[in-house]
Amino acid sequence: MAFSRAEAFAPATVANMGVGFDILGLALGGMGDRAIVEFQDAPEIVIADIKGDGGQLPREPERNVASVSARAFLDHIGERRGLKIKLVKGLPLSSGLGSSAASAVVTVMALNALVGEPFSREALLPFCLEGEALVSGYHADNVAPCLLGGIVLVAGITVDAIVPLPVPECFHLALVTPDYPVPTSEARAILPSVLTLKQLIHQTGKVAQLVDALHRGDLEALGAAIEGDTVVEPARACLTPHLTEARAAAKRAGAIAVFIGGAGPTLCALCDCESIAERAAAEMKRVYSQYEMRSIASQTLVDQVGAKLLKLD
Ligand code: HSE
Repeated sequence: MAFSRAEAFAPATVANMGVGFDILGLALGGMGDRAIVEFQDAPEIVIADIKGDGGQLPREPERNVASVSARAFLDHIGERRGLKIKLVKGLPLSSGLGSSAASAVVTVMALNALVGEPFSREALLPFCLEGEALVSGYHADNVAPCLLGGIVLVAGITVDAIVPLPVPECFHLALVTPDYPVPTSEARAILPSVLTLKQLIHQTGKVAQLVDALHRGDLEALGAAIEGDTVVEPARACLTPHLTEARAAAKRAGAIAVFIGGAGPTLCALCDCESIAERAAAEMKRVYSQYEMRSIASQTLVDQVGAKLLKLD
């Protein structure tokens, strides 16, 4: 049976988990983007509508993450029909919540369903990466968890390098996103291009500790590893408003560790229960309010499902 229209959902994601720059990411419960895709007779791909972006995302198909991912997919399967894409952005842009990855994943997920699901969700990774690369380069630490859900080790950008990691019981996150967009390109340009051997040893040791802690379900060790980043967070602190105060506020509320979500400025506080996560989110928000900065705060769990099809007709 041929379908003419598909709608999908893709969750927010948080890359890095502190010390795991470009190699670790997780999917968040709750927030996400939706896309509706429909074939059209004209051969081109058009961005027919975008809601929720305040008019900020490019509508030109060659500059939009969703249409670039769709182009890669359609070219690969030799499909000549064009496509209409409608996006409903639930995720704030340039916030460290994987908005560009969600645009790519949600579109490709819907498109795969529309043509009868020729690919497994893992096999959709390369098409999504084509779109993601447009705004932040070839790294899969948002795209992979967005597709697959869970906490993911991204040991490379090919499908066989993606390793799902265990999600410890009681893993809760408090989130706060100040109204202070940080373009990923800017946050990457600020990073050091050379590390000393001592820094390399420290950083790789912390990543290994983090993966071990996830396997043992040890949230205290996980927190220590997450906050062991001595390379990326120090460089990006100047782009992340009130990081020190927000971290202190979350910890006073009982949080175990605080890290910058992806390129920021979202802050994520690791907590071991929902009530602490709620308090930590409220306390971090209070810090931004003191500086008259608007912010959105919430608490959530890791999404274990990843992108999903909502409707096919
Ligand atoms: N790992 C990336 C970064 C995520 O921190 O720059 C943002 O796309």
